[in-house]
Amino acid sequence: MQVFHHVASLREALTAARRDGKTIGFVPTMGNLHDAHIELVKRAQQLCDVVVVSIFVNRLQFGLNEDWDKYPRTMEQDMARLRAANCDFLFHPDESEIYPNGMDQQTKVICPAMTDVLCGASRPGHFEGVTTVVAKLFNIVQPDKAIFGIKDFQQLAVIRRMVEDLCMPVEIVAAPVHREDDGLAMSSRNGYLTEEERPKVAILNQTLNWARSEIEKGRRDFAELEAESKSRIENAGFRVDYFSICNSRDLQPAAHDDREITLLGAMYTAGARLIDNVSLKI
Ligand code: PAF
Repeated sequence: MQVFHHVASLREALTAARRDGKTIGFVPTMGNLHDAHIELVKRAQQLCDVVVVSIFVNRLQFGLNEDWDKYPRTMEQDMARLRAANCDFLFHPDESEIYPNGMDQQTKVICPAMTDVLCGASRPGHFEGVTTVVAKLFNIVQPDKAIFGIKDFQQLAVIRRMVEDLCMPVEIVAAPVHREDDGLAMSSRNGYLTEEERPKVAILNQTLNWARSEIEKGRRDFAELEAESKSRIENAGFRVDYFSICNSRDLQPAAHDDREITLLGAMYTAGARLIDNVSLKI
């Protein structure tokens, strides 16, 4: 695996690969890689000739009270995992490489659709930070395909919308949620869970699955179903940020006659905020 810290040298290597007729697959990450990230790399390898992974903990998408400083940085393990997965190129820039003019004056990519609800409501500015850095990374790597996990359903929807609105020549590929045996969605933030909390946090996924099965059985009283779901999670000892039953395409509250529905939930543990979602077609 070749490791690049600078845009210019990565571009040079990618230009050479493209000249040889190779297609480029891209997996953007913030590091602290776990099995779900490696699944994204494998998907990119199935679809493209050369795979680029980026590791950059993007301060622009963290709020002032969020965990940017304590976000786990595990470069040695991450590089070992990527080497074992036969990743071709790792891009690991410094903040000054991505934001050479500083972050205050950085040109931003703002996607007004779908960014003020769900995670956007409790994390103001978060999606602006995500779309800005992803647009920059797309311009640097110029991938044919970029792979994102469905676990961050809203992020995936917002990035798809950005790509469509700005005519970016990249195909966005969605990869399934990778789960622990008890259903907990894999996430770097699971590392913040205490031993006591860990057996209980599967309640988020269990409740999403329960609510999905209620809809499959014919329930359409979505507001009541959301309230009952929140109570289930609260009764397990967690504070709920949101539990929402949405139209899968625009993330607006689901209407009775919607056919494609996604249920999304976010809850707080002592040291983490966990998100998850399930989708269904009716
Ligand atoms: O999903 C993530 O890890 C980040 O939001 C991303 C897409 C790498 C942008 O920083």
